Amino acid sequence: MKLLVTGGAGFIGSNFIHYLRRVHPEYDIVNLDKLTYAGNLENLKSLDQDPRYQFVKGDICDRDLVFDLVKDVDAIVHFAAETHVDRAILGAADFVKTNVLGTLNLLDAAKEFKKRFHHISTDEVFGALGPNDPPFNEHTPYNPKNPYSASKAAADHLVRSYIHTHKIAATISNCSNNYGPYQFPEKLIPLFISKLLNDERVPVYGDGQQIRDWIHVEDHARGVDLILHRGRLGETYCLGGNCEIPNLELIRGLIALMGKDETLIEYVKDRPGHDRRYAINFTKARNELSWEPRIKLEEGLQKTIDWYQKNQDWVDRCKSGEYQEYYVKNYSNK
Ligand code: NAD
Ligand code: DAU
Repeated sequence: MKLLVTGGAGFIGSNFIHYLRRVHPEYDIVNLDKLTYAGNLENLKSLDQDPRYQFVKGDICDRDLVFDLVKDVDAIVHFAAETHVDRAILGAADFVKTNVLGTLNLLDAAKEFKKRFHHISTDEVFGALGPNDPPFNEHTPYNPKNPYSASKAAADHLVRSYIHTHKIAATISNCSNNYGPYQFPEKLIPLFISKLLNDERVPVYGDGQQIRDWIHVEDHARGVDLILHRGRLGETYCLGGNCEIPNLELIRGLIALMGKDETLIEYVKDRPGHDRRYAINFTKARNELSWEPRIKLEEGLQKTIDWYQKNQDWVDRCKSGEYQEYYVKNYSNK
């Protein structure tokens, strides 16, 4: 099988490629990534000499490139996106371009060449839950509340419309908050771990009582692989970590695991439009795919802390943008 993975140099995409390599060593993998600030080829350096792996630096908004690549693969797993809510609040244009128009190019190419398409989405498209609401499931109406989730919802609607109208062979997964290695240090867990390692203060938005459901990225990767191979065409699958927790409780847990002091917590102004609670019901994935998350939060956090501790130079290079040089040195002349 030959797979096109978009956004494979990012956090979840690179973990997914490592997972694929372990589970399907015979697959050919093409990784199409624009290498925005969040894309880092160092995440995949163990594959540099792998003859079954190819990296293509490019933009999913480049329609000719997308068509060229899609025609030669069997399936597409689409991770590429602008993903950080805070950045979307500062400016949404790149989110609409990549998340909506980029997805449209991939859909048109999948339709043209009749390719299997899996679209990676988020639980944020469902909006925010009240304290007593049941968790999101595949029937929850869409109600995105910030420009990032609105762009992802638009993309999901396009995928659904192509399934319905053009009968493309597609599936969608909506997953909750991921954590693990290779996550750019702007999202809560990697940002806080890297700050705490340096005894820096950590900025808690508002009262810190917002609730998220956390899933280790490897559990997400396994879920995507199962949907790709065994998911019913045209269907959506919700994936979650079975791990709802208020931010402050999670942060206190991190501080305790790292042997730091709670005086490092700093309460700052809340994120505008901050969603109060996300939670996922993954019964469908459990019933149809025998999937459920395996990595418990404390174990996953400890592994993640250990990884960031060992890779502090990776974090430093992310912050300085220096990791982009890895591409220039290793790929740009090929
Ligand atoms: P990330 O920001 O770490 O990585 C995104 C990758 O996409 C980067 O490598 C970037 O260079 C690439 N990219 C961005 N724009 C591109 C373009 N125009 N063309 C080609 N490549 C481009 O993101 P992530 O956290 O790994 O998220 C991956 C996917 O999973 C996204 O679709 C996101 O919406 C979804 N998701 C993320 C989470 C989470 O908790 N991080 C949860 C659920 C769903
Ligand atoms: O739910 C899935 C989504 O999870 C993905 O679709 C997004 O791509 C991903 O970024 C993530 O979105 P969140 O906004 O939930 O993640 P973030 O790590 O930015 O924030 C997690 C929570 O922590 C949220 O309630 C905001 C809060 N927070 C975040 C940061 C960066 C803080 O209190 N302080 C911070 O500095």
